Amino acid sequence: MKQEPPCAEIKLYEKANFSIGVAVNTEKLKNEEKYWKLVLSQFNSLSPEKTLKPIYIHPKKDQFDFTETDHLIDFCKTYNKRLHGHTLVWDESLPLWIEKFKGDKTEWEALMKDHIQTVINHCKGYIKSWDVVNEAFNDDGTYKKNIWFNHIGETYIEQAFLYASQADPTAKLFYNDYSLETNGQKLDKVLKHFSGLKARGIKVDGVGMQMHVSVDYPSVTAINLSALSIQAQGFLVHYSELDVILSGREYLFTGKKKMFEMQKERMKQIVEGYLKLKPEYQFGITLWGVSDNDSWQTEKHPRSRPLLFDVRYRVKPAYCGFLEGLGN
Ligand code: XIL
Repeated sequence: MKQEPPCAEIKLYEKANFSIGVAVNTEKLKNEEKYWKLVLSQFNSLSPEKTLKPIYIHPKKDQFDFTETDHLIDFCKTYNKRLHGHTLVWDESLPLWIEKFKGDKTEWEALMKDHIQTVINHCKGYIKSWDVVNEAFNDDGTYKKNIWFNHIGETYIEQAFLYASQADPTAKLFYNDYSLETNGQKLDKVLKHFSGLKARGIKVDGVGMQMHVSVDYPSVTAINLSALSIQAQGFLVHYSELDVILSGREYLFTGKKKMFEMQKERMKQIVEGYLKLKPEYQFGITLWGVSDNDSWQTEKHPRSRPLLFDVRYRVKPAYCGFLEGLGN
């Protein structure tokens, strides 16, 4: 018997005054009709889940591969979708040649500058916002001693933003990280750092709170306070990788139906909280995947089911909660 949808499926982005984004898998966008039709009907902003990361786009020192990115640019041009650049400087998804690169500080700075500016210059005019640096701080607010820190020092962060703004002075430049919605100490250190950069004339426009949360953690109050703190420092707020995982523990004792209702309520609260921001600070909410079948969380938590559509691209209660949060 055909399962009745929990609510009507309408165009989500048409009900929002801010961008509704989604992380996309370019292979599925090319080859799966159900997938790309859902992307078109529900979202007006795309973030490449993988293909703009160095391991895909800069496989060798003097070789860039923009094949997947050009397809994404064409798709977004054709259907008038925003394309957000995720991400330029991160300590994961690096090609082996960068992992093994031998050079002094100046040579590492040149490597990072060449990557940032070549990628931005190729996408200029189509990608107008970038996650310039991703996940650079530990939960205690100290710098991650990652490959960039170890070879360039803590100034690699401001240098990355400087190189990006030199390549495209009109682009919106973001710092993106996880646990900003759960860890006040980390958020305070991050905001202090980037407010300091801005005070010294380095262009930093926004902060991405990744928002990998669960149905019962963190509290909506904590999420809203974090978003308001970012706004208070004059940064655009991007919920950049939203997914709401079903807690494995409760799932076993609560059951799927109850967990889906909790997930619906959580999605509604998150969207209602986001709407408390001033419109000019609302860069958007991006879901980290189209359906539960596409989520990176599933690899770690098979029952997490964290997104708006189920494994068969059907509307879930979470979608209805998101819609209700928008005021519909
Ligand atoms: C993840 C993707 O979803 C996976 O498919 C990939 O294998 C690894 O990266 N924070 C980020 C994202 O900023 O880029 C990560 O995306 C998830 C955590």
